[in-house]
Amino acid sequence: MLVNVITSFAFAGLTAARVQFIGASITGGDPQCTAGACPPTSGEAQMEHFAKDNMMNLFRLPISSQSFASDSQSYDRLVQSCIATGASCLLSITSALSNTTNTSSASLWTQLATKYSSTPSILFELSSDSSTILQTLITTIRTTGATNPILLPATNSPPNLTPLLSLTNPDGTTSNLHLALHAFLDADCTTNNTATLTEVASVLRTAGRKAVITETGAAPGNPLCLVRFCEQNKFVNDNPDVFMGLVSWGAGGAETEPEALLSQTPLWEGGRLVDQPLMAQCVVGTWIGSTVGVSKLLQIGEPEKTGVTVDAPRSGSARLSVPCWVVASVLYFGISGLL
Ligand SMILES: *[C@@H]1O[C@H](CO)[C@@H](O)[C@H](O)[C@H]1NC(C)=O
Ligand SMILES: *[C@@H]1O[C@H](CO)[C@@H](O)[C@H](O)[C@H]1NC(C)=O
Ligand SMILES: *[C@@H]1O[C@H](CO)[C@@H](O)[C@H](O)[C@H]1NC(C)=O
Repeated sequence: MLVNVITSFAFAGLTAARVQFIGASITGGDPQCTAGACPPTSGEAQMEHFAKDNMMNLFRLPISSQSFASDSQSYDRLVQSCIATGASCLLSITSALSNTTNTSSASLWTQLATKYSSTPSILFELSSDSSTILQTLITTIRTTGATNPILLPATNSPPNLTPLLSLTNPDGTTSNLHLALHAFLDADCTTNNTATLTEVASVLRTAGRKAVITETGAAPGNPLCLVRFCEQNKFVNDNPDVFMGLVSWGAGGAETEPEALLSQTPLWEGGRLVDQPLMAQCVVGTWIGSTVGVSKLLQIGEPEKTGVTVDAPRSGSARLSVPCWVVASVLYFGISGLL
């Protein structure tokens, strides 16, 4: 049915302005959930579900440099299962230790770049606070011959883009060098982040550069967060000349306990994977239906039938207790019904 919706949009000439990449962060390279509400399925199974059922085309695979060093084969298996879905894969190496040296990062990225340079659907995301180290890593990666996109971390809030915009490839160009942003809503979702993102968009536009939002999320179970998170993502989709993609945090191997971890891990209900509301409506829904507009999408959900209270932001205690495939299917059905 999703395919029909997309096709209908194209034929109706209503193809939405939207970002190239939509996806989820799949933890899994790091040690897995061992206690609490562990996810019902593996990161591999979730990527298959997201790609097939949600049309997602980018999975971010974060791993700490320490975990990578101790078991790079498990990480490679996760990368291969991502590639197998047909999506692009963002290899994101974080450092749990602030003293990780220039040299050890460079050798790690030499391995990765050499291994994946012939796979154009692989993107690399660097992490370091030091522009000098980032410049060294860009040069290191390009020296292997890899031309894959590299994302540079502008992940502080508010992001400081200036030092990153001046980093270059060895040939002096900025070709395939993009920025990585993180955009979480505050705990009570008092803002939809569009004021900050408007400023960022303006800097990027002036510089002729692009960014991927590599982490984003909002608190589950709060109707206001559902509204504001959808608003943020609609804004991102409305500015695809500077925002290349939006990657939701987070699914994969982490606990599904939502309040604690901003988890958007799909649940297992009735023998199938079922997306959480923030994922179904605000990540996938805004991408698929961005011409329709967020409020329209939410109205289509027929709140009185599903019990979702999206239009009463002040009743902070209202809960989204409905399995979100109900919301999602009404949503998708509603979109095709419009055409
Ligand atoms: C970094 O710090 C950790 C913990 O203090 C230590 O075990 C490790 O040897 C240090 N690594 C380097 C490269 O200094
Ligand atoms: C990182 O290493 C490169 C050479 O391997 C060196 O030129 C550069 O100055 C180093 N940067 C830092 C911040 O240590
Ligand atoms: C985001 O919030 C601002 C302030 O409330 C509002 O003016 C704006 O329309 C919202 N953005 C979207 C895309 O809904």
